[in-house]
Formats: sequence, C-alpha cells, structure tokens
Amino acid sequence: NNYCVIMGGGIGSRFWPFSREQKPKQFLDFFGTGRSLLQMTFDRFARFIPTENIFIVTNADYVQQVQDQLPEMPASCILAEPCRRNTAPCIAYAMYHIRAINPNANIVVAPSDHLILKEEDFIAAVSKALEYAEKMPNLLTLGIKPSRPETGYGYIQTANKINDDLMQVKTFTEKPGPEMAEIFFKSGEFLWNSGMFVWNVKTITKAFEEHLSEVTSILNNPVFGTKNERAYVEENFPLCPNISIDYGVMEKASNVLTMPVDFGWADLGTWGSLYDLGEQDKHGNVTLKSKAMFYESKGNLVSVDDPEKLVVLQGMEDFIVAECDNVLLVCKKDEEQRIKHFVADAGLNH
Ligand code: GDD
Ligand code: MG
Repeated sequence: NNYCVIMGGGIGSRFWPFSREQKPKQFLDFFGTGRSLLQMTFDRFARFIPTENIFIVTNADYVQQVQDQLPEMPASCILAEPCRRNTAPCIAYAMYHIRAINPNANIVVAPSDHLILKEEDFIAAVSKALEYAEKMPNLLTLGIKPSRPETGYGYIQTANKINDDLMQVKTFTEKPGPEMAEIFFKSGEFLWNSGMFVWNVKTITKAFEEHLSEVTSILNNPVFGTKNERAYVEENFPLCPNISIDYGVMEKASNVLTMPVDFGWADLGTWGSLYDLGEQDKHGNVTLKSKAMFYESKGNLVSVDDPEKLVVLQGMEDFIVAECDNVLLVCKKDEEQRIKHFVADAGLNH
C-alpha cells in the first residue's frame, strides 16, 4: 500500500546561475558523485518502495530529462504537468492518479532537492510514518530541528507529544519574515518543515476538498485512471491556481501532526545551504570546484564552473560569488532570497 511521489518540476531559481530553466537544480550533480539530486532521491526511495509505486511529477518540458536520468522508471510513473502551478496542484494530480490505482494508498511526498546523510535512519523514519498514515486520519510532516533563523522554510509550532514519535502541531507558518523567523528560532518550540509529507490518500483528498476546492473542483474527475487522463490534465491543469501545498493546505489544516526526525537532512535550496555543507578555510571561506585566493575576506562562497579559473577576493565579507556560462553573480549571502527576483528581472533563461 505504500507509494512515493517525488516533486521534480521546480526551477530552483535561488540557485541561479547554476540552476537554469532548461536544466534546474534537481537534474544537476552538485557534488561530482555522478548522480543528480533527482537520481539520489529516486535511489533512496527505491530501497524500500517498489519502483512501480514511485511517481515523479514534473513539467512536460523535463520529461525527457527524467527519462534520460532514470531509465529504470516506467514511463507510466512520470506525470507530466502542462504548465507550472506550484506544489499544491502537483500533489493533487498525483493524489488523484494514485487513488484511481489504490484507494487505500499511503503516500510519502518528497521534494527532489534534498540531501539525506543518514539513509538508514531516513528509511526507518519514513517507513514508520507510512504505518501511522495507514492508521491515523492526519497529515504528517517530518520536522527538522532548526539550526538558524532561516526564512526560506516552513515553521511548525509543536504542542503536546502524542507518543514517542509524533507531536501535535499548533501552527504552521510558511516562509516567515526575518523578525518572525528569529522569534520562532529562539523560542525552541518550532521545527522546520522538511517539505516531506506522509498521509493516506483519503486524508489528503479530504484536506484538499476542505481547503483548496479551487483545485479539487478542477481535478477531481472520474477520468483519472482511464486512458483519457492525460488529455484531461493537459486541458484542465492550467486552470488550477498557482499555490504551494504549504500555503494552500498545511497552514490551514487542523489535523497536522509532526514527526521530529534526525537523518542528516540538508535542503539544497540556496547557495547558503551549499555553503553550510562546504569545507571552510580558517576564515570561513568556501570554494567549490574552482581555485580562489582570499585577502582580508571571510565567510564567502566561491563557485565558478570553470576549474581552471582563479578567483581573487579582497575585502569581501559574506558574499556569494557564482559564475556559470554567461552569468556572474555577486550577492550578499544574507540577501540570497532575492536571487529569484534577479532571475525574474534578467529573464529566466539568462
Ligand atoms: N512537479 C512540480 N511542479 N514540482 C514542483 C513545482 C511544480 O510546479 N514547484 C516546485 N516543485 C518541486 C521542486 O522541484 C522541489 O523539489 C519541491 O517541489 C519543493 O519546491 P521548492 O520550490 O523547493 O519549495 P521551497 O524549498 O521553497 O519550500 C518547501 O520546502 C522547504 C524545505 O526544503 C516548503 O515545503 C517549505 O515549507 C519547506 O521548509
Ligand atoms: Mg526547496
């Protein structure tokens, strides 16, 4: 009864200029391991969920890249969106598709831009969460102990313990502003939303009907599971509003529970996250791939896709210096959330 939905249709604009519209970050191999983030995500789930129960929802433009990177995936498991409508419609599409196959499915939904360092612990935690999803009519999110007042995540305010694994959730706040994030972080009551959700298909369908009827009124249709599904999605999916699952469902639902987990989770959402994982020199400078020399500089991240290029920084503190193809980006590390606006201004394909 266990299924997995990998969301792999984002454009990863905060990782610009490495992540481009034509080849977003989930298809990139950041660490030179030979496997992209998407491939690593698939491998991780394939260890405990049957391959035919693993679905990827992605933009129609990326279907070919998914097939190239994951030839072991049956074509029927790749769900193509005709346009980008963010994660709520993406999840709804997968939910109706899977419900038609198995009305009792337990589903783990996962992004394709994470690193998990302790895979055994990950498998144990997700397996346990899937068992709870079978028994309890709750939306489960896997919660991570925060290490900084990051504004790019969702924050889960925890309440009472339900048992050794689960806690009640008082509030869910997606991407708070910097002051709020600071308060949340300091209070010790909050966990980060890992972006991984576990639920029974009946529970999530009900939550969508309650909180996002703009989506269910379009997608809840008996055509799912029939040969006309693709054509129906092609035509009607674009009518869905553009909204994330976090704003659309998680912030509103009252039956959310969280499972605090610790499996070496790292979100590769932004340059800052890569900085945190990188090896710092004694002044806190991190260099990826290329060579760099630093003078009166500290806390910088240098990432240039030409290994022969020498980068010299003087008098720079806490900057991102990233060069890829025709773009050079120099941006304060603590302003990195603005990168997506720079991309929008520059034109996505720049
Ligand atoms: N198929 C599809 N279609 N996938 C999408 C779309 C879409 O329109 N938009 C985004 N995705 C995929 C991305 O590729 C990524 O794997 C995942 O969905 C999450 O989207 P992000 O855009 O990376 O979300 P986020 O990082 O800003 O925030 C989410 O993740 C955080 C943790 O990493 C939220 O769930 C936060 O609450 C959470 O803390
Ligand atoms: Mg992300």
